[in-house]
Amino acid sequence: MTRVFSGVKPTGHLTLGNYLGALRRWAEVDQHRADALFCVVDLHALTVDHDPARVRRLSRQAATLLLASGIDPERCTVFLQSHVDEHTRLSYLLECVATDGEMRRMIQYKEKAPRERERGTSVRLSLLTYPALMAADILAYGAHEVPVGEDQTQHVELTRDLAVRFNQRYGHTFVVPKATHPKVATRVMNLQDPTSKMGKSDDSGPGIVYLLDEPDVVRRKIMRAVTDSGLDVVHDREERPGISNLLEILAACVGGNPEDLSGAYQSYGALKKDTAEAVVELLRPVQERHRELCADPGYVEQVLRTGAHKAREMARPTVDTAYRAIGLLPA
Ligand code: TYM
Repeated sequence: MTRVFSGVKPTGHLTLGNYLGALRRWAEVDQHRADALFCVVDLHALTVDHDPARVRRLSRQAATLLLASGIDPERCTVFLQSHVDEHTRLSYLLECVATDGEMRRMIQYKEKAPRERERGTSVRLSLLTYPALMAADILAYGAHEVPVGEDQTQHVELTRDLAVRFNQRYGHTFVVPKATHPKVATRVMNLQDPTSKMGKSDDSGPGIVYLLDEPDVVRRKIMRAVTDSGLDVVHDREERPGISNLLEILAACVGGNPEDLSGAYQSYGALKKDTAEAVVELLRPVQERHRELCADPGYVEQVLRTGAHKAREMARPTVDTAYRAIGLLPA
């Protein structure tokens, strides 16, 4: 059976980008057709300046939102990364297979490291080595597929390279995984700056729709989205990034494709209004379920405990094999 692994990092409140690019597909598709593991990758949240209480809060909230999105712990494995030691055990071996040049070429490092310096905080070494830990997340479980948004493609490519290299040098140990992406909305853009990704750790609140935004806040953010000069509604990511972003969000919410939908609109205002309502309706059940789950925190904790136990059992044999293959004696 196909094994699927994916994760979300608790560095901020989850966004519409996380939902359309990842969570929704995990819930609607992946958990039904594969042996799936979904992880709140909390160790990754420590790679930038962080507040421990906030990481704790956001980790709990992210786990709750996975369940609220329809991920069913009876069908798949839901857990926190830090509860399963195999991730860090394997990460070190992969650091011994990766090169520093490879790590420095990662787009996210190149973007985030200068941002950290601008803020006057030093760049953590873990920000550079992060992709080795992400590779370990995936390879420890022998995942065949990694359902992610477009921004994670390079990290999954690196994971493949490390798996192939390890297998060639030390004997076949890892499944070589591949990234899978949603058909539309694989890269949801910031509403105020449609040339940058809608990212949960960004500072620009008005350009980001959070999963837990109240309906009126969602409406306001979408109605105030930056649009392009020109008046006709066309889907063209290069020339009309603002309108194309709205068309893609709408297409992801109602089905269909952005090109076809563009023909139905004569004005930007009508497109914004329909997009806003479609997003409000998309988020409504998630928010309702989130409210219910918040009333029962013991349930979420129990899901995470059971998930960690299952995940440990799945990861340990592969990580033990990797330790032996690379030349370490068994304990
Ligand atoms: P993270 O936490 O930034 O994002 C979680 C998932 O949401 C997708 N996503 C988006 N998709 C479309 N449009 C957007 N604007 C948008 N923003 C985020 C991401 O592509 C991702 O699928 N490094 C990963 C976390 C990670 C991981 C892993 C993922 C750690 N280990 C192993 C898969 C497998 C990250 O930072 O995702």
